[in-house]
Amino acid sequence: MTPLDQDSYRLSVAPMLDWTDRHFRYLVRLISRRVRLYTEMVVDQSILLGNRPKLLDFSPEEHPVALQLGGSVPEKLAEAARIGEAWGYDEINLNLGCPSERVQGGGFGACLMLEPDLVAESMAAMRQAVKIPVTAKHRLGVDEVEDYRYLARFVEKLAGVGVGVFIVHARKAYLKGLSPAENRTIPPLRYDWVYRLKQDFPHLTIVLNGGVRTLEEVQAHLAKVDGVMLGRAVYEDPFVLEPADRRLFGEAHATTRLEVAQAMLRYAEAQLEQGTPLWAMARHMLNLFKGQPRGRLWRRVLSERACRRGAGVEVLQEALERVAASGEVAPELAHHAGL
Ligand SMILES: Cc1cc2nc3c(=O)[nH]c(=O)nc-3n(C[C@H](O)[C@H](O)[C@H](O)COP(=O)(O)O)c2cc1C
Repeated sequence: MTPLDQDSYRLSVAPMLDWTDRHFRYLVRLISRRVRLYTEMVVDQSILLGNRPKLLDFSPEEHPVALQLGGSVPEKLAEAARIGEAWGYDEINLNLGCPSERVQGGGFGACLMLEPDLVAESMAAMRQAVKIPVTAKHRLGVDEVEDYRYLARFVEKLAGVGVGVFIVHARKAYLKGLSPAENRTIPPLRYDWVYRLKQDFPHLTIVLNGGVRTLEEVQAHLAKVDGVMLGRAVYEDPFVLEPADRRLFGEAHATTRLEVAQAMLRYAEAQLEQGTPLWAMARHMLNLFKGQPRGRLWRRVLSERACRRGAGVEVLQEALERVAASGEVAPELAHHAGL
């Protein structure tokens, strides 16, 4: 296994089905060069049998980027991990936290927390198949299993087969009775359990996830754990990450919403030529000007026009012009953005 660059786990964007596809990840990468990115969960079987370019292709700019897998059959997971590594991913992550009924039906996701032996066997097989890090993303527990000692034994077991990075969604999951969305809000957050894992396993990389909204909160957690993963906060306002490279990684990188929009326009142009519909990209850009004076106008232009059949970059251009015309954008920036 390649040595872990622990620093690269300080900040990451969570795997989110339907949200963190390659286009959203590209947008995020324009805002932070250092944040670690995760794909949506991809089921191992789909990789083995499905359209691999569609499932796995990503832009070189996205590195570091991890492929999140769903599955529970060690041989299939190992083969899917091998394919992911060959495709160029920097990490393979196993989903042990999703409580959706569909995922439970497949026998994977959060319900695997009840089967530590099978998870250990799967992760050992994945580790054997690849050189890149194989990591786990899990909850504090499921259903009536809510016991720090159980969690610690689970982590210890996986560490025993060489897993070195644990991304812990700091609440348990209910397998019955709550929708996936409710399972992200109703079970209470227990950050103290995640801090305790780091104390008990100081040699492991422990990443805290769940309910973190701001970089200030990230910085506070980083005093206790190695990394923080943000999900909804980034999707709802991607620019929350803008100061991250400077504050968390000591890098000078800075950008503006307008520069990001302009770069997305160039990206969209290239993607449209390959047959990607504009909406596939524009839908992830709706929140780019969140909280700005013309943010709603931007959103409206995109949501009304970018989903139309045959829509092209002129829609993004118009939305940009409208935002720039508000006067909130300095003239030299507007010029820089080619407006
Ligand atoms: C729309 C959506 C889709 C998600 N899909 C996945 C997924 O594919 N794999 C996964 O491990 N977690 C998934 N999650 C859970 C997130 O990765 C994360 O653990 C959760 O949202 C808590 O973090 P947050 O409070 O920062 O959003 C999803 C969350 C959302 C909101």
